[in-house]
This record gives sequence, structure tokens and C-alpha cells, in this order.
Amino acid sequence: MTERKKLVAGNWKMNGLRADGLALAGELGRRMGSADASDKPRCAMLVCPPATLLASVAAMLAGSGIALGGQDCHPAPKGAFTGDLSAEMLADAGCSHVILGHSERRHGHGESDALVREKVAAARRAGLVPVVCVGETLEQRQAGAAWATVDAQLAASLPERAAEAGELIVAYEPVWAIGSGLAASLEDIAEMHAALRARLGAAVRILYGGSVNPGNAAAILALADVDGALVGGASLDAQAFWSIARSCP
Ligand code: 13P
Repeated sequence: MTERKKLVAGNWKMNGLRADGLALAGELGRRMGSADASDKPRCAMLVCPPATLLASVAAMLAGSGIALGGQDCHPAPKGAFTGDLSAEMLADAGCSHVILGHSERRHGHGESDALVREKVAAARRAGLVPVVCVGETLEQRQAGAAWATVDAQLAASLPERAAEAGELIVAYEPVWAIGSGLAASLEDIAEMHAALRARLGAAVRILYGGSVNPGNAAAILALADVDGALVGGASLDAQAFWSIARSCP
């Protein structure tokens, strides 16, 4: 069976001025540097700060083993797109990963599956690992359409044979669990991840996201088809994020 090292990723969203963002990154780097092997998380770690902090967090985390990611990118490599960032710019700032199709972009910025798919191609072009988010709304779950929604998002957001073309990470983030303090049940996560595994195959890492915290992380991360977590709020606190990473089996 393919070995998939678990990954705990922090999505800082639009949080972090220089002082607190650098203090957070510095504390994570310090812990990675000073922890005994037995105290270190068994998972890989990734942080995705706001774009204004990428270069300085990259410098701060250099050599720590903690990877850096962007939160979005434009499909084009460069051009007249005011306010946007290309995948190449993220790579140039030190990123190895980029979150794409987060529900806050799908719902808050009207991003379509087709646009997410172009962004996945852009990430690949720039050598970044795409972290593609999918997830149903509460209405869709209550209507019994959770899997149909996620399956349709996947089919339309991923380029042809995306799983074979290079490293790919998919994050299942039920919209109703994001920032609500109410994570999906272990049964619902296990069921969705099993369906995602059947669709995506053994090589793709499948993360769960939505109100992951130090109290629920161990049980979620122990599920067979959960290859890690995409953490929002709790990733803004070094101790909480570290504790989540430390709960990886
Ligand atoms: P919370 O962990 O704050 O629920 O956010 C999850 C998320 O959206 C990560 O991308």
C-alpha cells in the first residue's frame, strides 16, 4: 500500500499582521528545532499565511521542515490582473503548496469549479502542490446530497487524471463545519473519506477540515482514510496547532 505521511496544515485566512504572524511562525519553527525526536509531530506540517507574510514567514521557517503555502492563485502566470497573485509568484516567495477552491472563495468570491480547475493547472505549472477543497453546505447535507455535491465538485475542479499527474491533496471541508466549532461526526467523516478514497485512489492525500481543535484532532486523525487536517482558527495559536500535529498517530 502507498505510504501517505499525514499532513497537518494551517490556513491562517485573513489573519496575521507582521508582529503576530511572525511570532506564530517563529514559535512553530522554534518548537520544530528544539523538540526531541520523540516530541516532534509524526506528520508533515504546512502553514498558509496571508500573502503579505509569505516571504518573511518563508525566511523564518527555512530549514525547519515546515512547508509554506498560499491560500489562492490566479490561473495566469502574470499579467494585468490587479490584486491577484500567480502560482509562479507564490513559488518565488517560497511556497511549495497552494490552497485552491476553499469554500470561502467558492461562496464569497463566486469561484466556479471550472475556475478552480484552471488554478489547479496553474499550480502544477509552477511546481506547487494543489490543496483542492471540496465540501457540501448544510442544506445539501440535509437534502441527502452531500456525496453528490462533493463528487460533482471533484469531477469539475480537477484536471483530467489529476491524481496521476503529480502530488495532489484534496481537503474535505463541509461548509457548515468551518468556523462553527462543530466538526463533522467521526461517522460522517469516515463515510465521506471512504468515498473520496474510492474516487481518488491510494496516492492522494485526503485531509479533513472544519473546526478541528486539540480536543477532537486525535480521533479524526486516527480514521483510516484521513491523511491529515486543514485547520483554520486553531492554527493561529502555536500551542493548539502544535498539539493537533502532535496528535497524529
Ligand atoms: P476552522 O478550523 O476555523 O473551522 O476552519 C477550517 C478551514 O476553513 C480550513 O481551511
